Amino acid sequence: MQLSNSQKAIQRRVYHHVIKRIHTFFTIVQPGFEQIAFNELSHMDIKPLAITKGGIVFRGYLYDSYKANMFSRVATRIIMRLTEFRALHFNEIYRTLRNFPWELYISSETSITVEVSVHKSKLHHTDRIGEEVLNAVEKRMSDFGLHINTDQLRAQTIYVRFDHDQCGVSLDTTGDPLYKRGYKQHVGRAPLRETIAAALLYECDITSYDVIIDPMCGSGTFPIEAWCMVNNFFPGINRGFAFMHWPSFRKEACHSLVSSINRESHGATIVAGDRDPSMVTIAKKNCTIPGAAMVTYSGDFLTEKLTLEGKHILCAMNPPYGKRIADDDIAAIYSRLSYIFEYWYPAWSFCIIIPVTLRHTFTVPVTKEIQFNNGGLPVIALIGRGR
Ligand SMILES: C[S@@+](CC[C@H](N)C(=O)[O-])C[C@H]1O[C@@H](n2cnc3c(N)ncnc32)[C@H](O)[C@@H]1O
Repeated sequence: MQLSNSQKAIQRRVYHHVIKRIHTFFTIVQPGFEQIAFNELSHMDIKPLAITKGGIVFRGYLYDSYKANMFSRVATRIIMRLTEFRALHFNEIYRTLRNFPWELYISSETSITVEVSVHKSKLHHTDRIGEEVLNAVEKRMSDFGLHINTDQLRAQTIYVRFDHDQCGVSLDTTGDPLYKRGYKQHVGRAPLRETIAAALLYECDITSYDVIIDPMCGSGTFPIEAWCMVNNFFPGINRGFAFMHWPSFRKEACHSLVSSINRESHGATIVAGDRDPSMVTIAKKNCTIPGAAMVTYSGDFLTEKLTLEGKHILCAMNPPYGKRIADDDIAAIYSRLSYIFEYWYPAWSFCIIIPVTLRHTFTVPVTKEIQFNNGGLPVIALIGRGR
């Protein structure tokens, strides 16, 4: 395809001002898992600058943001900071952003959504702020002969955050949130987010086990994430990202990241069970990753004793709880689980999610407690080491 002179000029500017430049990124993380996300980024040779509630700041090239998107199991989304300015009047937003070089960051035809949040600022009408931003982007792009909001397939979100009258503008690099791994076709009741399951399995030091079991597996989130982790498989290598539509995107960069993966496997056995046979079928159907394998069974974990071969066994589970189940019934499950881990499986390590309000009903000693929200409910992951 022949590029016009003005397209070539934009490409040159993209190279110098976007590709060759170091940017600031913000990794959005489910509150409670910031430290584990920080460690994960550090392992990827990305140098995190700071941890804040709900996220990690890091500086790097676009390549680093591709890496974080493709290889992070814990992050929800990665956004790139573009600019920051003070605004007390709506027209200041338009005036400032109309002069921002959007043509270097957004491709023609892209459909744009503006997400606005406001904290302690004079301008607080979020719809109006969004309109000003969109008008500015549209005007700047049309000055370069580029048109936006014409193709729904290329979706791009611009994040605008007002805080004490400072307006921070960021570009989403991710697209669909990172917990959408692309392998899960069917969901059960109250499925766990993949990012939460992965963060908890990291917290349990998953690679030190030869068997990982979820005896209340539901749609199979823990077992499938566990399989990915022990086999060094990254679901992010098979999905699309918002950055792939940017004028700066070079697909060779993604290819080189994929070929850098160490395919060594830790070789653990993954076991998934549920008392409801239809959930076991769903978990099996969700395990669509080529080569992925898990042992499945249907059985009641609270009454049927299991015999598992393995020296180091980790049991990760998210028992039933929530508004639809009476507190007494949930308490009975956790007190039964206390008995089971104390007397049936004292050698197993465990990670059990429990509502905060019922913490007292699980009585086995634990080594770590991590509090977070699951489906709007405050819960704790109780992590314990087998004796
Ligand atoms: C909250 S769901 C688990 C969701 C799962 N983590 C996911 O991501 O889809 C709880 C599961 O525990 C199962 N369950 C409840 N009581 C059980 C028992 N006594 N033994 C085995 N499974 C049980 C239910 O059938 C349900 O699938």
